[in-house]
Amino acid sequence: MPKYIGAIDQGTTSTRFIVFDERGTVISMAQKEHRQITPKPGWVEHDPMEILANTSEVVGAALAKANLHAGSLAAAGITNQRETTLLWDRHTGLPLCNALVWMDTRTERLVHRFAADGGQDRFRAKTGLPLATYFSGLKLLWIFENVPGAREKATSGDALFGTMDSWLAWNLTGGTQGGRHMSDVTNASRTMLVNLATCDWDDEMLAHFNIPRNCLPEIVPSSAMHATITGGPLSGVCLSGILGDQQAALVGQACFAPGEAKNTYGTGSFLLMNTGTEPVQSKAGLLTTIAYQFGGGKPHYALEGAIAITGALVQWLRDNLKLIATAGEIEELAASVADNGDVYIVPAFSGLYAPYWKDGARGVIAGLTRYATRAHFARAALEATAYQVRDVVEAMEEDSGIRLAVLKTDGGMVTNELLMQFQADMLGVPVVRPAISETTALGAAYAAGLAVGYWRDINELRANWAVDKIWMPKMDEAQRAKHLKSWKKAVQRSFDWID
Ligand code: G3P
Repeated sequence: MPKYIGAIDQGTTSTRFIVFDERGTVISMAQKEHRQITPKPGWVEHDPMEILANTSEVVGAALAKANLHAGSLAAAGITNQRETTLLWDRHTGLPLCNALVWMDTRTERLVHRFAADGGQDRFRAKTGLPLATYFSGLKLLWIFENVPGAREKATSGDALFGTMDSWLAWNLTGGTQGGRHMSDVTNASRTMLVNLATCDWDDEMLAHFNIPRNCLPEIVPSSAMHATITGGPLSGVCLSGILGDQQAALVGQACFAPGEAKNTYGTGSFLLMNTGTEPVQSKAGLLTTIAYQFGGGKPHYALEGAIAITGALVQWLRDNLKLIATAGEIEELAASVADNGDVYIVPAFSGLYAPYWKDGARGVIAGLTRYATRAHFARAALEATAYQVRDVVEAMEEDSGIRLAVLKTDGGMVTNELLMQFQADMLGVPVVRPAISETTALGAAYAAGLAVGYWRDINELRANWAVDKIWMPKMDEAQRAKHLKSWKKAVQRSFDWID
């Protein structure tokens, strides 16, 4: 019986379990969506118990589909939506409140409170991050300030903080019966509580945000034999890989050398460039983040352009405006017109992230005339993704001094040919889709497999990477410049909608 590697991919909209072989081929997969709980404008929550139940369900379903069982796996990994924050009771295993999702903007007042004294970038040098609603440390502080009893329990060590990796890892490895409370370096680097130089919790940051150390997980490498999974369909399997999902995609795309980059088109879009073993400070509005740490090796760092809303705009057209019945319909509708009819959509639903970092921005639709149709809206929505990616590529080139020769892509939207062509046109460089498109789960599988010797080294991982399709830029410079000028004007109009 051949051995495989399993990866749990706990994302913003769904949870999946994928089983890979040593070539990175998908052997089996199961997926389940969870509820997006939106109690107020700007608030987005997930029910951690629902996610836990879904995780167990998809693991069981994927194994059953291919007649596999725990013994078929050499190891398992976890990859996850990164900054989504929860606090749970270590004795009952129950969350103290719903998880605050990364795109939730309720910490806006806290952001302003801290930025008032020293500005939005006051902690950048140490943490790599600007003050923004996005990151988990201030979400935890919000819980302390708003959920009765939370701070007391966390201070006494009776409540545990974690992002989704910690929550799943703790539950998989024993939960209330001695589960290991841990988070990998990549997820920890998104809290704003970690010093990038030491890759450890930073006392000064903990003091600034008034976070008790007792509730924090142990920070572990992305790839190491962390613990044995107990109970459930994976019982007995070694949990040996944990990576935030965007860093996992970087690994899945085999971007191991400085200068290698990928962009993942999902709910949002995340462009990460490996910068090697030294953190590079951004001057152009990008994030400095930990890319991965394999075993006891040096951590690798990345520059990241995080865009909150790309694929989520297509879902919004489907769910809120009922413009399309399924997300897949958007391409045909957009392709039914020759251009955007001068319509531009800036989807600043959670403010604007990189490179602008404007919490107070809100979405705008600009350029409307009586001529505009739903097809132009569909086109403008897809184009919004490409313009936002172009904005972060510009910032990436400015910060790294490296001109991007090609853009490696992955994620749900890369099946959209119109978008991929428009992306190549807006960047003026080829856009490449790899043969293995499940790069996020694959990255977690790679981390897990490296730790147990399933793969010997990163050269074996590199050898798995192959091209599926390349889109070459076709648009002339004048037309590109016209589009970009209108886009920038629309972005300006989205700024500072909230005072
Ligand atoms: O930082 C947020 C990111 O990790 C979410 O990714 O793919 O779940 O939308 P995704």
